[in-house]
Amino acid sequence: MMNFLDLDKQYLEISKEFSQKLKAIMSKGDFILGEEVRSFEREFAKFCQTKYAVGLNSGTDALFLSLKTLGIGPGDEVIIPAFTFIATSFAVSFTGAKPVFVDIEGDTYTINPKKIEKAITKKTKAIIPVHLFGLCANMPEILRIAKRYNLWVIEDAAQSHGARIKNRIAGSMGGTGCFSFYPTKNLSACGDAGMVTTNSKKLYDKLLQLRDCGRSTKRYLHNIIGYNSRLDNVQAAFLRLKLRRLSKWNEARINNAKTYSRLLKETSGIITPRIPRDFKHVFHVYSIRTNKRGKLEKEFKKHKIPFTVFYPLPLHLQKANSYLGYKRGDFPVAERVCRDILALPVHPHMQKKDIVRIVSIIRKVHNG
Ligand SMILES: Cc1ncc(COP(=O)(O)O)c(C=O)c1O
Repeated sequence: MMNFLDLDKQYLEISKEFSQKLKAIMSKGDFILGEEVRSFEREFAKFCQTKYAVGLNSGTDALFLSLKTLGIGPGDEVIIPAFTFIATSFAVSFTGAKPVFVDIEGDTYTINPKKIEKAITKKTKAIIPVHLFGLCANMPEILRIAKRYNLWVIEDAAQSHGARIKNRIAGSMGGTGCFSFYPTKNLSACGDAGMVTTNSKKLYDKLLQLRDCGRSTKRYLHNIIGYNSRLDNVQAAFLRLKLRRLSKWNEARINNAKTYSRLLKETSGIITPRIPRDFKHVFHVYSIRTNKRGKLEKEFKKHKIPFTVFYPLPLHLQKANSYLGYKRGDFPVAERVCRDILALPVHPHMQKKDIVRIVSIIRKVHNG
């Protein structure tokens, strides 16, 4: 039986060490923002080549608190891609600012930098490029535009722990980098968890306050309105053990993706993911575009092959975002991608024979 994800195999690699850590946490009764969280923050900041990291309860709050830290709120606009997980837009909406969508590229699935400038108005305060599926958005271009218009860049790196452009790593290129450790992610917790990375001491200090009820350095004295977005020690301990294995697991994902792309090369009607030069894709998701999605899905179900559609609907057509007033046809590339994209299993513990089997079914549907 093939699985879309094999989290139990990841767990097996850390289970012995985790049991000991868990015992220590339980006997100490040290549960929230303790030593494990502080160590994880240090280690994750080092991994991301940033000065600071702030452990949080989720990737959604990483985005939301980044925006709040930068003072973004009602009357402001924030540019985001039309094709991403919905939380990217919700984080903007939570602040009272308006999400402004921009279309994507049809082979990297990340925001199209050529279309950003047209979306900038006097109200624009920030751009949130999403490093989707494990691939960084075109940061050199985005940072150039942001500099020209004096905009903040908040990286949504929820799906891209360890992705790179040349020697720069996801989460270290913008004002802040936002990570999710939701259980399906490349670096995944056993519950909800997230992180913000930054090189700015000022932003770091504000984030520390916002995540913990606006707390000042003195206990029970609060200078600003804050939130409860704290990370707990059990998640941090679990994540520290996995962080040590992340690079190895990312390499396994990359190998699996290479095998898919090599075997699918000559298949008509299939677009495999494009990796721009000097970019390191860490394949959180391996998605193909297929002009026979319905038929392929049927065949996969028949052969018990797991698959997923990330995402069936772009953000501007989601009911929850209807208040923004967009309509069908506004972002044609994102809309087309939603109709023909299909994600194949690519997790680090996959066997090559499973990839070969999946490819043979795709070939039969497409060439046969
Ligand atoms: C691109 C993207 N942004 C934001 C999030 C939100 O993260 P979380 O689920 O940890 O709140 C996720 C993942 O769930 C995501 O994939």
